[in-house]
Amino acid sequence: MDGRELVRTARLLSTATGLRALRSAWRVRRTDARGLPPRGPERARVPGDVIGAGPLPGGGEVRFARSSLRIQVSGGGTVFWGWDGAAPTPSYALAGKPPEPDPRAVLEPDTNGGWRVVAERVTVAVSREGAVELRTPGGAVLRRELPPRWWDPVGGGPARWSQRSEVPADARFFGLGGRASGPRLRGGTYRLWNTDPGGHFGPADDPLYLTMPVQFVVSDAGTHLAFHDNSWDGRVTLREGVEGGGSGHDLPGGSELRMTGGPLRCWVVIGTPARVLRGWTALTGAPAVPPSWALGPQHARWGFGSEREVRRVMAGYREHRLPLSVLHLDIDHYDRHRVFTVDRRRFPDLPGLARELRAEGVRLVSIVDPGVAAEPGEAVYESGRKIGPAGAFVRDAHGAEVRGVVWPGDCVYPDFTDPAVREWWGGHYAERLAQGFSGIWHDMNEPVSFAPFGDPTLPRSARHALEGRGGDHREAHNVYGLAMARAGHEALRRLRPDERPFLFSRSGWAGLQRYGGTWSGDVSTGWPGLRASLSLVLGLGLCGVPYSGPDVGGFDGSPSPELFLRWFQLGAWLPLFRTHSALDAGRREPWEFGPEVLAHARAALTERERLRPYFVTLAHLSGLSGAPYVRPLWWGAPEDRTLRDCEDAFLLGDAFLVAPVLDRGADRRAVRLPRGRWYDTATGRAYQGPGQVLLDAPLSRVPVLARAGAVVPVRNAPGEEGGQGGQGGGESVLEVWAPAPDRSGGGLVVRDPGDGWAPPRVEQYRSRWVDGAVRVERVTEEGAVTVSEGIRVRGHAPGH
Ligand code: GLC
Repeated sequence: MDGRELVRTARLLSTATGLRALRSAWRVRRTDARGLPPRGPERARVPGDVIGAGPLPGGGEVRFARSSLRIQVSGGGTVFWGWDGAAPTPSYALAGKPPEPDPRAVLEPDTNGGWRVVAERVTVAVSREGAVELRTPGGAVLRRELPPRWWDPVGGGPARWSQRSEVPADARFFGLGGRASGPRLRGGTYRLWNTDPGGHFGPADDPLYLTMPVQFVVSDAGTHLAFHDNSWDGRVTLREGVEGGGSGHDLPGGSELRMTGGPLRCWVVIGTPARVLRGWTALTGAPAVPPSWALGPQHARWGFGSEREVRRVMAGYREHRLPLSVLHLDIDHYDRHRVFTVDRRRFPDLPGLARELRAEGVRLVSIVDPGVAAEPGEAVYESGRKIGPAGAFVRDAHGAEVRGVVWPGDCVYPDFTDPAVREWWGGHYAERLAQGFSGIWHDMNEPVSFAPFGDPTLPRSARHALEGRGGDHREAHNVYGLAMARAGHEALRRLRPDERPFLFSRSGWAGLQRYGGTWSGDVSTGWPGLRASLSLVLGLGLCGVPYSGPDVGGFDGSPSPELFLRWFQLGAWLPLFRTHSALDAGRREPWEFGPEVLAHARAALTERERLRPYFVTLAHLSGLSGAPYVRPLWWGAPEDRTLRDCEDAFLLGDAFLVAPVLDRGADRRAVRLPRGRWYDTATGRAYQGPGQVLLDAPLSRVPVLARAGAVVPVRNAPGEEGGQGGQGGGESVLEVWAPAPDRSGGGLVVRDPGDGWAPPRVEQYRSRWVDGAVRVERVTEEGAVTVSEGIRVRGHAPGH
């Protein structure tokens, strides 16, 4: 038992569910001992020598003595290859049909007896031993996968495999889903197995709730994303390269992927970071665009405990003039923690409460956990047992329902990999909507079964439908949360077809963005947790999941006023901006930290609301192009190596650079600037990048810089000039940051098309100097039209 397990055991055994969990953990062990055949002798295998090749649409098949490799290039620089006959489907990651093969890609003999597929944007070269190399049209090598190795069980069954790859010495790794130690992933081993760390985590904890075999690699040669489409348990070991300083003796970087089963197949998307995300989300699905209210400030707590307390908190927001858009109810509003129920004693009239809040512009969001209390007479349990021939719940290899332990006690788990179960489960969301909830928060869906030892999840031998193919938890585990998100998303679309669903989920996998966003989970209160929050959001964005954010203030314990404020100031610039905390944690309402923190938190909230039109724009742009709202500094300049290593700041869209304060006691900080002119939005002072500047970061604010030339839609405060006023603090106006002298700038703007399905319209603006004044033009197909109203110019005039 390691230290982490010991702590977990101690915590758990001190709770009421402790004994149950202990029994359940023994049960898991027993179930697997009976249900999973022991791994017998294995035979190691490599592809062997090449023996031939033949063309296929978009590429070809290369045959080796002991395996074969299928390569397919599709338009736009997306490459697929699969060994041992692995094809793109079936796949939980892909959004629909795999992309069309590029008819112009040709298979031809390569030097040294190998083969290559040549396409417009990429060449895939296969060596005679089965190494696969990706080259740019200029000949630079982006990635080389060495010949894989399999271990085939002699008696049959899934083969383990491993594959090593090399990347240029200067390459940096990002991604792998939600990781607390990034955003830049250092050398080391990262597990691919969605895991609840047990109530709190910091940068050293790995894995967490949402893993994905997605490597985002940035090097001088170019940017690429490599996705090994395989949901089994695995490990990725990354090794950062070492440059020889011009001596010609670079040590390349690399990775080794070891999987316990499942297909060996890989997608690679190459191009600029923006192109890579576009290609990746074309493959795995456009990010769901949250309704605009989900881009406002949100507040949650495990343990509001009653309608009265909810009203008290609401009154606090009102009294302290703090804007609020969403309030979340956690499991304490359920009857004995049971999903799709309400504790009517403490919450006698939820629909009434929801209406009351709605009148103040506040929506209610409900937590939904997958575990269903396994008790005769329990309505959800009983109805689930009637689904299909075998009921809705996961069964073991002998056909018995698998029991685990979660908040309600002994629980069973819906098998979301079964379409009929998804539909049945989704039907229950009608109850949530009838209670007045506007959105859904999925939790505990790794899935979790409390366990004082071993893996806190279902037995690996547990059976799953896997869309009719059949299989076990080894394959289904990592896609459990993803499939649950699908059930929820499809249900909300069915039940309330005129509104875009708002759904976010703790666990997930590649493709989660199609259904919704995610959040940090139980990030530990402390300065390291603050840093981990940013790492998670940035890494997930590069994996195609753009909407996320932390528990502001941290999940457990009580942050100091300073830590709370710094977290709040970071959260205000992230897509999901939500305060949340545990049952036994301190309060997170801004007024609980004294008048100074309250005033500064109000300023952060007000700025967030002022920028709502910009967040709406970013949300729609992410839906159209996959570009995350929150981007690493190297987003537009991956060739700038110093930016690749900068982990303490980020870009929000094209317009802003946000430099949160991540250290205790800091009142100024170094900020690395990409190329171009940047204005400190608080002082208006201009700085020239690339380079590093030292900026003031008093308790009242964190440094935020605006890119010269940026055109940003903002909400005009009521009564301010430049707009017509209106609901919720005013119409939007365009804030324009003066371009640098002799330069131009611009921006894309999406006006809020409402929370339905009206297609977003993208407006393009350009800013430039004309006769000593900043002119803004709307660029349309017919030409440029000068915009003369609703413009507010900020930043310096030339010569300053
Ligand atoms: C999990 C969630 C947390 C929630 C708690 C109770 O720990 O991560 O956000 O408050 O469960 O539902």
